Amino acid sequence: MPHLGGILLALAVSQWRFVDALPRPQIGDYGEKSGPVGGVNPPTQITTTTSGNLRGNSSLLGGNAPLPNPNTADSAIVPNSQYVKGQNADAKLGLYLDFNSANPPQPIRGGRGATDSGPRTFDYEKLNPDLYAPPGTDAGDMPNLMWPMGLSHNRAGTGNNAGWARQENTAVLPAAVAMAGVDMRLSPNAYRELHWHTASEWGLVLKGCVRLAAVDEEGRSFVDDVCSGDVWFFPSGIPHSIQALEQGAEFLLVFDQGDFTEEGTFLVTELFLRNPISVLSKDLHAPVDAFNNLPKDQLYIFNGSPAPKNISEQNITSSAGSIHGNGSYTYHWSQQEPYSVPGGSVKIIDPITFPVAKKFSAALVTVQPGALREIHWHPTSDEWLFFLQGSGRVTVYGAPASSRTFDFTAGGVGYVPAGCEHYIENTGEEDLIFLEMLQADRFTDVSVAQWLALTPRQVVKDHLGLSDEVLDNLPKEKQRIVTGNPDLTALAEGGSAF
Ligand SMILES: *[C@@H]1O[C@H](CO)[C@@H](O)[C@H](O)[C@H]1NC(C)=O
Ligand SMILES: *[C@@H]1O[C@H](CO)[C@@H](O)[C@H](O)[C@H]1NC(C)=O
Ligand SMILES: *[C@@H]1O[C@H](CO)[C@@H](O)[C@H](O)[C@H]1NC(C)=O
Ligand SMILES: *[C@@H]1O[C@H](CO)[C@@H](O)[C@H](O)[C@H]1NC(C)=O
Repeated sequence: MPHLGGILLALAVSQWRFVDALPRPQIGDYGEKSGPVGGVNPPTQITTTTSGNLRGNSSLLGGNAPLPNPNTADSAIVPNSQYVKGQNADAKLGLYLDFNSANPPQPIRGGRGATDSGPRTFDYEKLNPDLYAPPGTDAGDMPNLMWPMGLSHNRAGTGNNAGWARQENTAVLPAAVAMAGVDMRLSPNAYRELHWHTASEWGLVLKGCVRLAAVDEEGRSFVDDVCSGDVWFFPSGIPHSIQALEQGAEFLLVFDQGDFTEEGTFLVTELFLRNPISVLSKDLHAPVDAFNNLPKDQLYIFNGSPAPKNISEQNITSSAGSIHGNGSYTYHWSQQEPYSVPGGSVKIIDPITFPVAKKFSAALVTVQPGALREIHWHPTSDEWLFFLQGSGRVTVYGAPASSRTFDFTAGGVGYVPAGCEHYIENTGEEDLIFLEMLQADRFTDVSVAQWLALTPRQVVKDHLGLSDEVLDNLPKEKQRIVTGNPDLTALAEGGSAF
C-alpha cells in the first residue's frame, strides 16, 4: 500500500489543474477564535507516542478539586467589539444590520443580547444577521422556515460529469409539509432518466434548455422544448424524460409532497432490472438475449446523444394523438411580459392559464433595492419560496404571538405556513428575484394595507390608534410591492424607511 497515495495523487494531477497547493482550511480562514477554547490551547503538541488517560478521576469532582483561579482562567470578555450602523437603534425598529463591515459581528441590537466570545464561524452570522441579532419584535417558537440549497447533500449523476441534483424536503426542513424542491443540473445532452413518481412535478428552467417527453394514461404523447424562464408540469404517475439541449440546463422542481425525495422515484432501468426476463420477453415479444445490454444499475442522471434539432422527428403518436392546447404539459412563461409596479414586477402562472398544473400557483417576483413585497398572507395554502438572485429577509408571524425573521440569499428555500403573515424585503444592492409557490387553484393573497384601507375607518382607529393622515394614505388597490429607502438604516439617523 505505500504507493497508493502517490498513484492517487498522480491520477488526480493528470485530471485536474490545481489552482493552489493549500493543504486544508487554515484555522482563522473563517474567522474562528484561534486561542484557548473549552480548556484546550491550540496548537497542541505533535506527539509520536501515546500517553495520558482518557478519563480523569474522582479527585476532580467539585468539592474534592482545588478551586480554580478566575483571574488566570481563559477570559470570556470580548475586547474592542465593533458595531455596525443601526445596531444601537431601538431593537423594535428591527433595522437590517449589514454585518459584512464588522470583524467580527456581535449579536447585540438596541441593548439586547451580548458580545460573542465564540466558538463561531463569522460567515454564517454575516449571512444571517436577523437570526444572530433578531429584531426586538421576534417572539415565541416559530419553527425554522429556511433551508439554503448550499447545505443540501448533492447527488452526482452516474455519467462522467453528467450532472447532479440537490433537494429540500421535510428531512431537512420539517415544517415544509406541503411541498418539496429539487435543484437539478444536466450537462449538455445529459438526461434525467425516464421516470415517474407519486408526487406531481412543477418545473422552472433556470438556465439553458431541455427537451421533454411524456405519455399520459390515454396513450397521448407529448414532446416540447423549454428554455430559461419556461415552466412544465407532470401530474403524478405520468412517465417523462428530461434531456438537456446542447447548452446544458439547470432547473428547479417543486413537488406537492413535503417528503418527496429524488431517491424515491420509479426508474425505467430499475423496472427492467426488477422483473423476470422471461416476463419481459413475453411482454415485449422480444427474444431473451435482447436484454443482454440492459444497464447493470440505474442511470439516474447520465450523458446522452444529442437530441435531433427537428423536434418533429421525435413526435410519435398513437390513435389517441398528442397532448396539446389546455392539456399541454408546458407553458412558455419566459414569453409572458411581467406586471410592473413601482419597486418591481410580478408574473403569475396558475391553473387559470396553465390548467394541467392543478393546484400549482406561482408568482415570479422582482423587488428593487430598498423595496418590499408588501405585508400579506395566503389564505388557503402554505407557500414554498425559492430565491433566484439577491438577498432579502422575511419575517413570518404565526398565531397567536410568535414571529421570526430569516435572511435569504440566492439558492435559498423558504416556507410560510398557510395564513401566516409575512413580507419579503430586499436587503441587498441588486434586484431581489424569487418564486412564490402555492398549492391553490389560483394565486391569491390578502394585503394588510388593502385590508385596513377597505375596513371602516372607525373600526381601524378603535383597534390601532392610527391617525387620519395615515389612514388617508392607505391604498384601496393592492400594491403587491411597495418602494422604500435603499438605505436600510436611515431611521437610525433621523431618515425615513420609505
Ligand atoms: C487522580 O487525578 C489527579 C489529577 O489528574 C492525579 O494527580 C492523581 O494521581 C490521580 N489519582 C489516581 C489514584 O490515579
Ligand atoms: C406531434 O404530432 C401531432 C399530430 O399527430 C401534432 O398535433 C403535434 O403538434 C406534433 N407536435 C410537435 C411538437 O411537433
Ligand atoms: C422535421 O421533421 C418532420 C418529421 O420528420 C418533417 O416532416 C419536416 O420536414 C422536418 N422539418 C425540417 C425543417 O427539416
Ligand atoms: C383553454 O381553455 C380556455 C377556457 O376554457 C379557453 O378559453 C381557451 O380557448 C382554451 N385554449 C386552448 C388552446 O384550447
